[in-house]
Amino acid sequence: LLRDEPKRPVKVLVTGAAGQIGYAVVAMIARGLMLGADQPVVLHMLDLPRSRDALNGVRMELIDAALPLLRGVVATSDEAEAFDGVNVAILIGGSPRREGMERKDLIAKNVPIYKSQAAALQKHAAPNCKVLVVANPANTNALVLKEFAPAVPAKNISCLTRFDHNRALGQVAQKLNVHVGDVKNAIIWGNHSSTQLPDASHGTAWTERGERPVRELIADETWLREEFVRTVQQRGAAVIKARGQSSSLSAASATCDHMRDWILGTPKGTWVSMGVYSDGSYSVPDGLFYSFPVTCEKGEWSVVQGLQIDDFARSKMEASASELMEEKTIAYEFL
Ligand code: LMR
Repeated sequence: LLRDEPKRPVKVLVTGAAGQIGYAVVAMIARGLMLGADQPVVLHMLDLPRSRDALNGVRMELIDAALPLLRGVVATSDEAEAFDGVNVAILIGGSPRREGMERKDLIAKNVPIYKSQAAALQKHAAPNCKVLVVANPANTNALVLKEFAPAVPAKNISCLTRFDHNRALGQVAQKLNVHVGDVKNAIIWGNHSSTQLPDASHGTAWTERGERPVRELIADETWLREEFVRTVQQRGAAVIKARGQSSSLSAASATCDHMRDWILGTPKGTWVSMGVYSDGSYSVPDGLFYSFPVTCEKGEWSVVQGLQIDDFARSKMEASASELMEEKTIAYEFL
C-alpha cells in the first residue's frame, strides 16, 4: 500500500541554530507551527564550528522528539551546505551585542557575516527563497544581505518586528483585560530598536459590545503615547534584565508567526508588522528596511495604505528612519 504523501517537504534553514532562539524555533518549525500542521519539513541548521557539539546535540534531540513532520536534518558549519536548495531561510546567527558595545561596533561585526551569507543565499538557495533576518541589528543586516545578493528580489528579504508587534498586542490586551487573540492591528513603525514607534491607535479589540477601536477603549491618550510606547520599545532590555539573557521563546514564536502569515496569508481584516524594503509608502525614504503594517496573500506582502498619520506619529517615524539611515551609513563604511 502506498502511503498518502500529499505535500513535498519544504527545506527550512535556521542559522545560529545552536543558540537560544534557534533551539526554541527548530522545535516549533518541526511541529508545524511555521508552515502548517500538514507540511513536512527538512531542517538545515547552521552554526559556527565551535558550536559543533551543541548543534549536534540539537540534532539528537530533534530525532529523539519523534516529530512526524520532520523529514530530515542537516547540521553543519558550512554555509554552502546550509543554504543548499532552501525555500525558507531564518537568519538568527550573528555577532551578539556584548556589554559596552556601541551600535557601530555591532554593525561592524555583522557586516562581514551578512555579506558572506548573501553570497551563499544567492548561489545556493532555491529560487524565490523567502528570508527573515532575526539577528540584530536586524534591519541593517537585512540591508547588507540585499546589497550583496542582487539576484534575490528585495521583496523576498524581510526582518523581524513581529516580535515587537506581538509585544504591543500583549500590552494592549493587559491594559483592557481582554484575551490577546481579541486584539489586532497594532503597528510597529521603523527599526527593531528603541526608536521604533509601537502604534496602537489603528488597532481594535473585541469586547462584549463587539469590535471597537482601541482609541475608544483606551481614552487615556497619554498611556498610548508614553507608557505603552516606552514599554514596548524597552521590552527586550527588560527581559534581558529579568532573565539574564535576551528574549528567546517570544522571538522564536514571533519568527513562526511572521513566516506563517507571509506564506499562508494574513486573516481577512488583519494586518501584521514586517520589516521590509521601503517603497516610499508613508514618506519613509526608499532604500531602508523599515517596519510597516502589511497584509499577505499568496506569499506576497503589501503595505497597508491610507492610514492617517498624526504629527506625533510622523515625528517618531522620521526619527526611526533617521536612525536607520545612520546605521546604513555606518554599514557602508565597513563594506
Ligand atoms: C529584543 O528585542 O528582545 C532583542 O532584540 C534585544 C537584544 O538586543 O537582544
